Amino acid sequence: MSDLEQLKSDALTQIEAAGDADALEAVRVAFLGKQGSISVLLKTLGKMTPEERQTQGPAIQGLRAAVADAIADKKTTLENAELDARLATEKLDLTLPAPDSPQGSIHPVSQVMDELAEIFADLGFAVATGPEIEDDWHNFTALNMAETHPARAMHDTFYFPDVDADGRRMLLRTHTSPVQIRAMQAQGAPIRIIAPGRVYRSDSDATHTPMFHQVEGLVIDKGIHLGHLKWTLETFFKAFFEREDITLRLRPSYFPFTEPSVEVDVGYSNEGDRRVVGGHGDEPGYDWMELGGSGMVNARVLEFAGIDPDEYQGFAFGLGIDRIAMLKYGMNDLRAFFDGDPRWLRHYGFSPFDQPTLSAGVGAKA
Ligand code: PHE
Repeated sequence: MSDLEQLKSDALTQIEAAGDADALEAVRVAFLGKQGSISVLLKTLGKMTPEERQTQGPAIQGLRAAVADAIADKKTTLENAELDARLATEKLDLTLPAPDSPQGSIHPVSQVMDELAEIFADLGFAVATGPEIEDDWHNFTALNMAETHPARAMHDTFYFPDVDADGRRMLLRTHTSPVQIRAMQAQGAPIRIIAPGRVYRSDSDATHTPMFHQVEGLVIDKGIHLGHLKWTLETFFKAFFEREDITLRLRPSYFPFTEPSVEVDVGYSNEGDRRVVGGHGDEPGYDWMELGGSGMVNARVLEFAGIDPDEYQGFAFGLGIDRIAMLKYGMNDLRAFFDGDPRWLRHYGFSPFDQPTLSAGVGAKA
């Protein structure tokens, strides 16, 4: 083996053996540093005859390049190994149990929606949803409110300035009732759903915010009557407020999409500045509070949604979620629900680990 080949094989062996960046640097200095053996060889080129230089030049330069390349490759290998080792020590096991005191909390509105879903699931109701940006037809027309219907004026609707590609007038839904139409169109009869969600009206004071929450309920089947509605609401409220002494009052009312229509009042009493449900609203010390609207689904609405009113009938209700949340958990200003103040959320929020279940009690500890 020539001297050059020997030198190259020595260099490559040492490079291969270098276990870390420092060792590799030492090898580099030994061969390519100022006094390194290859650098010294390069200097000998100047004293050679032109003929010698013509063969030795490329050979020594080739040796230098091969060794430099091998060092660069080894450097990359060492760096990758170092990164892998670091990643291995910094690994985060996401399957570990979460800390004892988590920072976030579940908003009372979300909590109440989970409670609703749990209670109604037990009664055989599925959860349905619909868009918050709704069209005029689903929000009004199909609910028996024609273009000129005076009830439209009561809704303080947020309209979008333009019509959509199909010429439909778009709006922010003013109630969850359009989900009735969508559910009936999508699945036909029989039907048993609730539809919790956000609704919007141009209205703002201590008891009204421009965005608030409702839960719609809809049951369509054969032979459904007002008695089913009253039983369902009573059973729901008893489970929700976790007390048996709930008294409902169904008061005659008017909604274009139900006939007959009834407003739902519940008995309550004042405890300090807090209203507590329970008892008969006509007894001394008690009063009635309105929780929402309901009634038997108007035959015209069934027709709009493609269901034969001679075969099927049903009831519907719409309750204010924020209202029943305030009643159950004792808040007195609706606006604070949507301020996003972390102190309010810490006080009224719920642990994410405290999922409402019927067996453990839907009213999780605050
Ligand atoms: N959609 C009505 C409202 O928001 C409430 C309602 C729902 C009434 C279902 C009757 C039946 O005021």
